[in-house]
Amino acid sequence: MNFKKEGFVNSQARNLAFLQPGNSLISEQYRIIRTNIMFSNVDSDIQSVLFTSEMPGAGKSTTAANVAAAFAQAGKRTVLVDADLRRPTSHYTFGLSNQSGLTTSIVNQLHMEEIIKHTSVENLDLITSGPVPPNPSELLSSIKMTQLLRELKSHYDMIIVDSPPVLAVTDAQILSKHTDGTVIVTDVKNNNVHRLKEAKQLLEKTDSKILGVVLNNVNMKKESKNNYHYYGSDD
Ligand SMILES: Nc1ncnc2c1ncn2[C@@H]1O[C@H](COP(=O)(O)OP(=O)(O)OP(=O)(O)O)[C@@H](O)[C@H]1O
Ligand SMILES: [Mg+2]
Repeated sequence: MNFKKEGFVNSQARNLAFLQPGNSLISEQYRIIRTNIMFSNVDSDIQSVLFTSEMPGAGKSTTAANVAAAFAQAGKRTVLVDADLRRPTSHYTFGLSNQSGLTTSIVNQLHMEEIIKHTSVENLDLITSGPVPPNPSELLSSIKMTQLLRELKSHYDMIIVDSPPVLAVTDAQILSKHTDGTVIVTDVKNNNVHRLKEAKQLLEKTDSKILGVVLNNVNMKKESKNNYHYYGSDD
């Protein structure tokens, strides 16, 4: 299955493919990503995962939302945090208001409970971005942001964080310091190995544990019927 590239944020309803009836093959790919994340670290549990990409439009938000739904479906209390303060989309995906969210929480020192939104998916909560600020990197590096992520850890089994692309801005690097692991989503039809390597190096500079790479926009082949592939970083 191919997808249309966009140069702007899609404000129309965005489907959560994982939950659509008749999408069992696609749902299975998200379950595989979920399983790989759960088993990616033998020494300690992975409780928070950052989703990023090297370039814009690779499918980060789509993958993050669907993987979050897959964790929730497995009975894990899950929260999806839209920390892409530049091109946020999670409020469209879940059809929720974005008047309050991460940015209002940081700026107004709001409590976690005041910005958590329940979604229609059992076990899945959402923190939308809130209004887009002029200084995203500054907000994401704030003490309040670190405190919020720490607080979420004591309330949820899994925290999935959506972020901007690594090569565009420093936001993903900042966030990767506070998550247990990072997944890079790449659009196989438009990616470039040098950019991918550069993104990996930037993330490694922050001591981020790269859990793996999701290959998005792979043509479904009759024999595999897979649209998503996940390779561990050791491959
Ligand atoms: N596997 C997929 N199948 C179908 N559509 C997809 C898939 N992955 C992404 N898309 C679509 O491609 C567009 C871009 O995806 P998405 O918004 O998830 O990318 P992104 O990496 O978060 O982009 P940005 O860098 O702008 O945050 C969206 O319209 C989304 O619905
Ligand atoms: Mg996005």
